[in-house]
Amino acid sequence: MSFRFNDKVAVVTGGSKGIGRGIVRVFVENGAKVVFCARGRADGEALQAELNKAGPGSCTFVPCDMSKEDDIKRMIAFTVEHHEHIDCLVNNAGWHPPHKTTDDTTAEEFRDLLNLNLISYFLASKYALPYLRKRQGSIVNVSSLTVTLGQKDAAPYVATKGAITSMTKAMAVDESRNNVRVNCLSPGNVMTPLWEELAKLTPDAADTIKMGEKQQLIGRMGTEVECGLAALFLAADATFCTGIDLLASGGAELNYGIKTQIPS
Ligand SMILES: NC(=O)c1ccc[n+]([C@@H]2O[C@H](COP(=O)([O-])OP(=O)(O)OC[C@H]3O[C@@H](n4cnc5c(N)ncnc54)[C@H](OP(=O)(O)O)[C@@H]3O)[C@@H](O)[C@H]2O)c1
Repeated sequence: MSFRFNDKVAVVTGGSKGIGRGIVRVFVENGAKVVFCARGRADGEALQAELNKAGPGSCTFVPCDMSKEDDIKRMIAFTVEHHEHIDCLVNNAGWHPPHKTTDDTTAEEFRDLLNLNLISYFLASKYALPYLRKRQGSIVNVSSLTVTLGQKDAAPYVATKGAITSMTKAMAVDESRNNVRVNCLSPGNVMTPLWEELAKLTPDAADTIKMGEKQQLIGRMGTEVECGLAALFLAADATFCTGIDLLASGGAELNYGIKTQIPS
């Protein structure tokens, strides 16, 4: 039996929960050796134990705070010490803060979010690229459908994601001379712990989730594993794609809907 990413070495940031977990799972199921990180140990170690039992690939959890440059350097160094090379970097760790108006948002909050959602993607790419170039590997940046749609009371989040999509294109240009492909994956609504946490902040969480499910033409939210399959497509199969933004959105960006917020 042949696996689509057999013996390839991948680094996945924010891999202990949600979309990152789906990516780690699909990569291991396809034969990859994955190093993944998060801040919390318990979920990371539990996932590592579960996936290593099933194989055929393997994974190693490394505690790492992606908002800290030294942690990022350590995670890349750990990967190379253990696996000698890196074939793919998936930048995924990020956060969507609770919805807030621009008036209520401080510069400090925006700067912290930029640091986690954008600068960490840049730094992980910077430290992984010397190894990716040797293997003619690729980077997959998890961005967001909000880059296309915008989103209410979320200007800093949407701005960080827009910058990820733009940075992806710029790095695709730069790294073409090294045969490294750089793409992004933009999920729409995907049911994850983050989505659930944000729903809990609304007056009726169950109703918010129901509305979220109806926002896609496909009539449901996406799953972690579907995001994993889309990331694997970019890493393993999309060898003629660089600088693209793959929407994994269930068609949420199509058709007209009731969007005006001005009471008639
Ligand atoms: N869910 C959606 O509908 C959706 C849609 C579009 C885009 N996205 C994007 O997809 C990515 C993942 O979102 P998700 O919904 O899967 O989020 P999630 O459920 O909150 O999972 C986030 C993962 O990242 C880790 N993480 C968070 N902060 C970190 C840090 N500072 N350093 C290292 N790891 C960190 C978390 O573990 P710890 O908390 O233990 O660190 C966890 O493993 C984000 O970039 C998000 O913007 C999500």
